[in-house]
Amino acid sequence: MRHPPRAALKEVADNSAARLVRDVSDSGLVEHVQLTAEDLLLRPWRDEDAPAVREALRDPAIAQWNPQGGGPIDDEIALSWVRRRADWSAGDHASMAVTSAVDGGLLGSVSLHRIHDGDASIGYWTVPAARGRQVAGRAVLRLTDWAFVDLGLHRVELCHAVANPASCRVADRAGYRAEGTLRESYRYGDGRRYDEHLHARLATDR
Ligand SMILES: CC(C)(COP(=O)(O)OP(=O)(O)OC[C@H]1O[C@@H](n2cnc3c(N)ncnc32)[C@H](O)[C@@H]1OP(=O)(O)O)[C@@H](O)C(=O)NCCC(=O)NCCS
Repeated sequence: MRHPPRAALKEVADNSAARLVRDVSDSGLVEHVQLTAEDLLLRPWRDEDAPAVREALRDPAIAQWNPQGGGPIDDEIALSWVRRRADWSAGDHASMAVTSAVDGGLLGSVSLHRIHDGDASIGYWTVPAARGRQVAGRAVLRLTDWAFVDLGLHRVELCHAVANPASCRVADRAGYRAEGTLRESYRYGDGRRYDEHLHARLATDR
């Protein structure tokens, strides 16, 4: 497996023509990148994000639908959460802070995880103050385009609880087709197992 030196942070604008297409499964490496989408800037996580992440992960809806496991979210847990997501060196995930391109404020989180052999899963949340303007859908769309074009992935899956209709809208808006219902497939924040919708996008979908 080749391990080229990690490149410096690079900025990739929407529809940039200058893209390096490669297959992650060949290189085992995912390089840090920044992506823009209208008024959104998706960028790697930084230590300074920890206080905002601590507040976000304490939001009841995020605690329910993006459970972190373990105990209450304190400063130390938030910092290690941010640092784990900032380290892409294993090549199995690409986790981004979704921020305002205007003032840099944290709006949410979007990540590709379980990147392997052309496949990945995508997950997301938005802070309560950012909801109602399709931040998640736009961030998912942008990261998915990057996954197909720059990482050379073929299939990205998205799962959400059937009981979380806002997340279903995010999936639909980002072009993730519904593929079926998984029965009692995941234990969410309240400790109960929920049915989930499986959605997915293929690089070849129109
Ligand atoms: C789900 C979530 C990511 C949506 O993100 P967002 O960018 O803020 O999305 P919006 O508020 O613009 O809502 C997205 C869509 O869901 C719809 N929606 C919002 N709340 C809804 C509800 N309770 N029932 C049905 N639809 C709802 C909105 O009307 C919008 O529809 P549209 O695209 O047709 O306009 C955000 O609400 C969130 O972080 N929730 C808590 C954690 C979570 O659910 N994470 C996802 C785990 S899979």
